[in-house]
Amino acid sequence: KNIAIIMGGYSSEVAISLKSGNVVYQHIDTSKFNPYCIHILKEGWFLVEDEQKFPVNKHDFSVDFKGNKLTFDCVFNAIHGAPGENGVILAYFDLLGIKHTSAPFYQMALTFNKRDTLSILRKYDIPTAISVYLNQGETVDVDTIIKKVGLPCFVKPNNAGSSFGISKAHTKEDILPAIEKAYKEDSEILIESFLDGKEVSVGVIQCKDETIVLPITEIVSENDFFDYEAKYEGKSQEITPARLTSEEESKVREVAKKVYTVLNMSGFSRSEYIFVNGVPHFLEMNTVPGLTEESILPQQAQEAGISLTELFGNAIESSLN
Ligand code: DAL
Ligand code: MG
Repeated sequence: KNIAIIMGGYSSEVAISLKSGNVVYQHIDTSKFNPYCIHILKEGWFLVEDEQKFPVNKHDFSVDFKGNKLTFDCVFNAIHGAPGENGVILAYFDLLGIKHTSAPFYQMALTFNKRDTLSILRKYDIPTAISVYLNQGETVDVDTIIKKVGLPCFVKPNNAGSSFGISKAHTKEDILPAIEKAYKEDSEILIESFLDGKEVSVGVIQCKDETIVLPITEIVSENDFFDYEAKYEGKSQEITPARLTSEEESKVREVAKKVYTVLNMSGFSRSEYIFVNGVPHFLEMNTVPGLTEESILPQQAQEAGISLTELFGNAIESSLN
């Protein structure tokens, strides 16, 4: 079976996605699958092999490759952000009848939208922060925002990842610059109350029709919050398994499974929670989580005795069924 590992993307997360995609490529079991690296970039779509680039034919996602027309049985989605994690490119594969490792495009689009995900989960009584939503061009009344969410608060692009565009606002004066920064990433913004407590990250995957909650990771950031530097430049500790009481652990496992089910997910997911008074509050879901050896979900899988080769192979096999 020919597997196209799509990586790159059109967002600020492009470099991280290229790393994730290359790690997937290195760990695919080549006795079962023929993997190819496909870069999906603003400059164009290319199959990349030995630093040579072969353009992808967009009308059928084929590649004229070494005298043959190469087509793919499955797409492994390793694009963080647009157009992979937000579902856009998956709708295209659905139209072409090409299987992919992610959830259906609608689930991907929905869960990439922080506001809409929160609004559904609140209807299922899942605790979250308090939030205010803004659209670019809308008048901003800082006093009303503070009255609703308090200080400090978080200002986030509504559709983005890897903490790009996120600020923690400590004072009233921090809010407008934070909003401006977030608008550089997205035309929608979410301002959320600060949840003060232990932060954990929970991977939920599907393995042969079974939904599996992986060992939980505790995040201890050296920075003010789990920002880009904390995530990617070593300014944090990621402790797997998390140091939780058995009650905390069972609560967060239960809520993570409920979130996955309520949102009709399939494939990979990693969602984040903060404990307030012993209750896990949902922050957000990542449906194309970082996939390098150091990333959280692969570490959780390894802790559960699942190698990267098994993790990625299982995702491909599940999508082909
Ligand atoms: N958005 C990054 C890649 C993550 O969630 O791991
Ligand atoms: Mg995220």
